[in-house]
Amino acid sequence: MNDTPLIQVRGLTKEHGAGASWVRAVDDLDVDVPEGQTLAVMGPSGCGKSTLLHLLGGLERPTDGEVWIAGRRTDILSERALAHLRRRSIGFVFQAFHLVDELTAAENVELPALLAGRSPRAARRRAESLLDRVGLADRARHLPSELSGDQRAR
Ligand SMILES: Nc1ncnc2c1ncn2[C@@H]1O[C@H](COP(=O)(O)OP(=O)(O)O)[C@@H](O)[C@H]1O
Ligand SMILES: [Mg+2]
Repeated sequence: MNDTPLIQVRGLTKEHGAGASWVRAVDDLDVDVPEGQTLAVMGPSGCGKSTLLHLLGGLERPTDGEVWIAGRRTDILSERALAHLRRRSIGFVFQAFHLVDELTAAENVELPALLAGRSPRAARRRAESLLDRVGLADRARHLPSELSGDQRAR
């Protein structure tokens, strides 16, 4: 085990909008998340939970402060380096799912592996094993529209 926390956040601040719609969604946050820890971010609607997750996952850039993932500062990476980090190291279960409607469950799971350069066969095998792990082996050839909300999230 490494002593460096997996996620380190220092003085993290994110402001949205301008004028009357200006809002500080994340306000000078410091937090360390050790490897292996499960963290729940709780609070009322609009308090900044999604903004925080977007900042940690490299989907948005902070107004101020720093994000470190596995000892590497990420908020100042180039768009290209951020895309690589998201593809290789970060997984999101979005509220709105963001599945590709025309692709089956298996193809949706295969897609990031193909983008990361895995062979089609390796991607297919990995997708089958992951779907099996979450109890969806028998839904692999279903389209997202043929899955329940909970199945789409899985
Ligand atoms: N892209 C944006 N532009 C302007 N305001 C935003 C944007 N995203 C979020 N906000 C505002 O920031 C605040 C926090 O939003 P959000 O992080 O989505 O909250 P939560 O996920 O906790 O419900 C809210 O007041 C929301 O209206
Ligand atoms: Mg939210």
